Amino acid sequence: MNRAVIYACSHRRGGNSDRAARWLARGVCEAGGEADIIFVREHDVRPCLACGYCDEPGGRRGRDLCVLGHDDEAWALFEPMLSARAVLFASPIYFYHLPSMFKTWIDRSQQFWAAKAEGAPWLTGLPERSARAVFMAGRPRGDTLFDGAAVTLRYFLHNFSMTLAEPLTFRGVDEPGDIAARDHCRENITALGRTAWEESR
Ligand SMILES: Cc1cc2nc3c(=O)[nH]c(=O)nc-3n(C[C@H](O)[C@H](O)[C@H](O)COP(=O)(O)O)c2cc1C
Repeated sequence: MNRAVIYACSHRRGGNSDRAARWLARGVCEAGGEADIIFVREHDVRPCLACGYCDEPGGRRGRDLCVLGHDDEAWALFEPMLSARAVLFASPIYFYHLPSMFKTWIDRSQQFWAAKAEGAPWLTGLPERSARAVFMAGRPRGDTLFDGAAVTLRYFLHNFSMTLAEPLTFRGVDEPGDIAARDHCRENITALGRTAWEESR
């Protein structure tokens, strides 16, 4: 566990989440670490079939946990969740929640939920880690704007023995360049990347 992974979760290339992901990576580097950015939209991830195959892992692991494991790229996205020292997310809010491509991948983590329930040592033995998230939303207001995204991310991370630190949230960020034009966003997001690396020791 010697690298950070940052999941950039927008369907839009070059938008606010992509920029935030790069600032997070810069923060990790400033703290002496190295980070990989994964653009979720670039990966072919098929939806969970709810087929029940993963309900009985029976010692299976890796790609064999899921009936789709050899058919798409979901596992390539999961590998860093198992091995990264620090895990971060930069995501927009879509309809008060996470973007559908990101959520599709999250649904596929049902295989980890099942393996954890079975007590698979390669999963239950992972060290406790803290994950970070930056959320961006176009609306300037809304008490519950980030609640759906945060609760889903929290339970997803539980599969990997991670807890979610209080997310950094930005409202009224809509056009691709909005986050860059706003005072202090860059500093605050870079600082989050630094903290994530420093506190992961
Ligand atoms: C399908 C879709 C749904 C959206 N739903 C919401 C929403 O519910 N609330 C909100 O504040 N903004 C919403 N937005 C606006 C985005 O959160 C906003 O444009 C954000 O900056 C996009 O991030 P990006 O630049 O990383 O793509 C939505 C955008 C899209 C494309």
